[in-house]
Amino acid sequence: MATPLPFVQTLEALTSFLPEKLKKPRIGIVCGSGLSGLVESFREVVIVPYDKLPGFAKSTVPGHKSALAFGLLGAGEGVPVVAMLGRFHPYEGHTFPTVVYPIRVMAKLGVKNLIITNASGSLNPAIPVGTIVVIQDHLALPNLTGMNPLLGPPTSPNHPRFLPLSDAYSPSLRRLAFLAAHRLSLSRNALAEGIYAWVSGPTYETPAEGRLLRKGGADVVGMSTVPEVVAAREEGLNVMVMSLVTNFVVIPDTYRSIREEVEAELAGKPVELPVAHVVSHDEVLEVGREKAGVMKKLVESIVELIPTV
Ligand code: 6GU
Repeated sequence: MATPLPFVQTLEALTSFLPEKLKKPRIGIVCGSGLSGLVESFREVVIVPYDKLPGFAKSTVPGHKSALAFGLLGAGEGVPVVAMLGRFHPYEGHTFPTVVYPIRVMAKLGVKNLIITNASGSLNPAIPVGTIVVIQDHLALPNLTGMNPLLGPPTSPNHPRFLPLSDAYSPSLRRLAFLAAHRLSLSRNALAEGIYAWVSGPTYETPAEGRLLRKGGADVVGMSTVPEVVAAREEGLNVMVMSLVTNFVVIPDTYRSIREEVEAELAGKPVELPVAHVVSHDEVLEVGREKAGVMKKLVESIVELIPTV
């Protein structure tokens, strides 16, 4: 891997360190939990740690790196790209402007298309662990209830005050994901389509919360991405999101009745205790490690398929 750069003061100073062919990345990539291995496919890579970048925070999540990576990705000459290795979440205590700052920097660098990856829990029995879900829409309760990332004065007079999100997830980029899956001969069920519910975290959902999101139409749930999508749309970028399902959100049809168990016990009837599944971050990282190769190949193939102009 390339050596880190010395301290960078400004955006201009950042690009001044880059070789000419990396100065104008065309595509931005956000690497989620356990998915930063994508950088191993980069050529002529330049890594800039976030702590060398004014305005960037430090990612505090285990399994997340903390750097921007510039490089060439894809066959032939390669496409100049910039990737976030590790992202910021509101649950870490970062403010929304901090969470989305790297997205705004990517836009300033000239990025027009943004590919975002994340890890999520499945709410849909037809979407098993290990599936990569191409996101078609989101359900963001925080956005509707006073935690919208764009609350406050506009960051630029060029931005619309009331940003439409009806077309936030680019159909033409999503199309490329399925073409890429075909090129890679992935099995049909390796890639699904679905709706991403964004929750603030850091707690995982209760069964009742999981049920609410499922009934609201969500297929997967996670704690990231939506602030980035919203800021990217405000900056005028085309966005696509691929979510790796790392675990299943268990939503029981009925609650186990402790009263009935006690009554059965008192009546001398044996009680079989259910074994509940408890989700863990280790499990999320483990599936990330297993499936990171597929995600990596998909992103690389999509980058090759994005038209130049
Ligand atoms: Cl189950 N929930 C949330 N909110 N985020 C996740 C997840 C579950 N699994 C991975 N990320």
